[in-house]
Amino acid sequence: MDDKRIGIFDSGIGGTSIWGEIQELLPFEECIYLADSKNAPYGEKPAEQILALSIKNTEYLLSQGCKLIVVACNTATTNAIDYLRSNYDVPFIGIEPAIKPAAINTRSKIVGVLATKGTLSSSLFHSTSKNHTEGITVLEQRGTGLVEMIESGNLDSEDLYRLLERYITPMLEKGMDYLVLGCTHYPYLIPLLKKMLPENVTIIDSGQAVARQTKSVLEHNDLLTSSAVMGAHQFFTNGDENVLATILQSVKAKHSVTFKDF
Ligand code: DGL
Repeated sequence: MDDKRIGIFDSGIGGTSIWGEIQELLPFEECIYLADSKNAPYGEKPAEQILALSIKNTEYLLSQGCKLIVVACNTATTNAIDYLRSNYDVPFIGIEPAIKPAAINTRSKIVGVLATKGTLSSSLFHSTSKNHTEGITVLEQRGTGLVEMIESGNLDSEDLYRLLERYITPMLEKGMDYLVLGCTHYPYLIPLLKKMLPENVTIIDSGQAVARQTKSVLEHNDLLTSSAVMGAHQFFTNGDENVLATILQSVKAKHSVTFKDF
């Protein structure tokens, strides 16, 4: 048993969607969350830079005594998790687009994946996608510009709706019946997506699966907390504290946010 914290990082506020699932499943665990908003979006950066940023975040979390790190970012996972796992001693949990459940359940055999350029061009995404999608058409759509708009904190703007619609409409026209959200920022688009998707299209994201995997790895490594009181949570951002605070309020989480130039 262990009373150290779980470390979570993302290129910004998106990984709070993963944090939300983790604290629901593991309410007694303490977490420290890093929003590297200053460097968002990761998805448009070269792979070496995404790796360097992932190392920086990992080392900061390790300096805070984390027992396990959740890479709550598809772009960082697909570009850096192998390196992180081989170079640091703590367990790492990553997140990848949930292609498998979409491929198993699609009736039209056409699945859309909305993700960043960094994720869609990674070799990890391609090998996972290839392994699960025999006989399925996968429509890969880059969500260029979406992360920046979400990071600005306005999740209900007309411009955001229009940009999203530009990405979704061609996939609908091709017959997609499953839409995989391959970026942890995108669950915050679900209210807008629901306005534009017909009822036969199912949205999938990987948040709950990541939380279950976190629990199982903690159990397996005897790292679950021994505490029986609700865990405390710390949120650090090197961007706008108000944006992170507002997104937390939107999921009814009452935690304070601290600016830190990590
Ligand atoms: N939340 C990150 C992801 O899951 C966004 C990447 C970015 O900053 O472009 O991919």
